Amino acid sequence: MAMLEITDFGKRFTIHHLSKTMPAVEHINFTLDAGEFIGIVGKSGSGKSTILKSIYRTYLPDTGKLLYDSGRFGIIDLAKVTERQMLYLRKYEIGYVSQFLNVMPRTTCRQLVTNALLEMGESEEVARVETERALTHFELDSKLWDSYPNTFSGGEKLRLNIAMATVKKPRLLLLDEPTASLDQQSKEKVRQIIEKLKNTGTTLVGIFHDIEFMEGLCDKVFDMQTRQLTTAKETAVYES
Ligand SMILES: Nc1ncnc2c1ncn2[C@@H]1O[C@H](COP(=O)(O)OP(=O)(O)OP(=O)(O)O)[C@@H](O)[C@H]1O
Ligand SMILES: [Mg+2]
Repeated sequence: MAMLEITDFGKRFTIHHLSKTMPAVEHINFTLDAGEFIGIVGKSGSGKSTILKSIYRTYLPDTGKLLYDSGRFGIIDLAKVTERQMLYLRKYEIGYVSQFLNVMPRTTCRQLVTNALLEMGESEEVARVETERALTHFELDSKLWDSYPNTFSGGEKLRLNIAMATVKKPRLLLLDEPTASLDQQSKEKVRQIIEKLKNTGTTLVGIFHDIEFMEGLCDKVFDMQTRQLTTAKETAVYES
């Protein structure tokens, strides 16, 4: 089976002050094989983040199946796994990089990455070495390592976010607009990072605003408008 198989996924939200339930996204189907990178494109509000958040189980789907081939549990429906299983998956198998850095306050950049490793059961020494390796790899200046990230630039926060998610070597990595609001040079760095991840066999689902950025990076593109999954080369330029 594929690494991820999404069948007839749908999610509604209740707008309480209007006493109305509105579909955010419906009838989503796509399949992702191990080692593949799928890019999701579509207009703002079309439900891209809702799909990623449901895979990570920040949201519970209303319809459909999100079958994931877990290293630990075998094939499971992410909509139905227990909280305990989901915590395990978030710790060891599924990484999520949001466009916002949402971390514990008064914790240094170095400590945040180290904590991610310790959480996985690595020893203090391995965590220390791996943290420095990751921060160097993602080009975070060593003078920032012992600072609090609340003052970091957008690009620095993003690279820390990616470092925290990838030191765990997730089997599946979800990226929500990792290039939003970055300048061209920082975007290029993100691209290189994603290429490195791909080369180490990580399976990825990413949301991107500009399709040019994805060119040559994604294997397939899922278009929210047409609901079609196409190999990246066939994709027409998306107009937002
Ligand atoms: N927690 C929530 N409560 C109510 N409505 C929500 C919630 N999360 C998302 N929505 C709604 O669901 C729809 C899809 O939102 P989503 O964030 O998935 O869109 P998106 O495609 O990621 O957009 P963007 O490109 O702007 O990030 C929107 O209409 C949004 O207002
Ligand atoms: Mg979004």
